[in-house]
Amino acid sequence: MTQYKIPVIPGDGIGPEVIFEGRKVIDAAGERFGFDIEWIEYPHGANHYLETGELISEGTLKELSGYPAIYLGSIGDPRIAPGILEKGILLTARFYFDQYVNLRPIKLLDGVWTPLKDKTSKDIDFVVVRENTEDFYVGIGGRAKKGASKDILEVKRTLYSAKFGLDIETDSEEIGYQIGLISKEGTKRVMEYAFSIAENRKKHVSSVDKANVLSDIYGLWREEFNTISAKHPSVKTDFNFVDSITMWFVKNPEWFDVVVTPNMFGDIITDLGAIIQGGLGLAPGGNINPKGTSMFEPIHGSAPKYKNQNKVNPIATIWAGAMLIEQLGEKEASATIVDAIQKNLLASIVKTYDMGGMSSTSDVGSDIARRVMDS
Ligand code: IPM
Ligand code: MN
Repeated sequence: MTQYKIPVIPGDGIGPEVIFEGRKVIDAAGERFGFDIEWIEYPHGANHYLETGELISEGTLKELSGYPAIYLGSIGDPRIAPGILEKGILLTARFYFDQYVNLRPIKLLDGVWTPLKDKTSKDIDFVVVRENTEDFYVGIGGRAKKGASKDILEVKRTLYSAKFGLDIETDSEEIGYQIGLISKEGTKRVMEYAFSIAENRKKHVSSVDKANVLSDIYGLWREEFNTISAKHPSVKTDFNFVDSITMWFVKNPEWFDVVVTPNMFGDIITDLGAIIQGGLGLAPGGNINPKGTSMFEPIHGSAPKYKNQNKVNPIATIWAGAMLIEQLGEKEASATIVDAIQKNLLASIVKTYDMGGMSSTSDVGSDIARRVMDS
């Protein structure tokens, strides 16, 4: 029997409840397909921060980097100012592990209601490859009051570093500024990942940018996209401005196969993607470093108002769990979990409130686990 050790960070709000169901289903898949996962629990999140002052320490990150994958619930708590936990834990982990791909499948399963009129599971089936370490997310910026001031902004990565020395002079009462930065190396690797996925799908990659306005940063993105598409002559490509792609996601989702996007636009368009595939309760994601430690999580947040009610839909997290074991190489078990989710949805009996049902989080987890065992 194959043994794995996987760290799990249940996190805040509904995180622990949905992660519990995800583990239940993966454990069932392990029993069915002959592998065993030892789950190593980490307490990081709001309570741990309030009790100890630790968001996520260098020591913890180093320890976690010894594992191929991490299973994450959700991070965020109303007792703590917005951004502290998200940046201090989630983004810190994405950057530390250099998880440069944020893979978000946008797939409408059968039996799921979509707000898009006349669209079916045949029309909504693409993946978004969101760059996950650069762009406006690098977190460098500042504020300056009227007069002269100086600032030094730095990004330090294993892949490269960049430093900006700023001499600021303004007669505005106060300005805020933020530098978005992408690198040739960082852009190239995420695009190569997107093309390699497309080679095994419908051979179509759509790039997202706003090169008509932000022409320096996304001009580089476009240039790199051209270079890489030239190496993949059998893959069809197109450019999309971010504003227009939101329109096409709604009007013609069937046009898309693989969508590669800079970080911030990717954040925005994947919430739109989530709703057309049936809602945040059904949308999984993976933060992937193909050669390092990846991290799998639902796209949704911690939904504090539903905490401890055993009410929310665990499917996004269960699906993220399927992505996790696929990354481990358990492809058949992974496909079986997605299939069990599909069967649960088609049966449409054991379902949570967001799907028009009355079942609990744990009922849905148990139903999917049973279907994995019976497969
Ligand atoms: C997401 C979230 C995060 C992001 C936040 C919580 C930092 O919205 O995973 O999409 O912006 O990437
Ligand atoms: Mn988001």
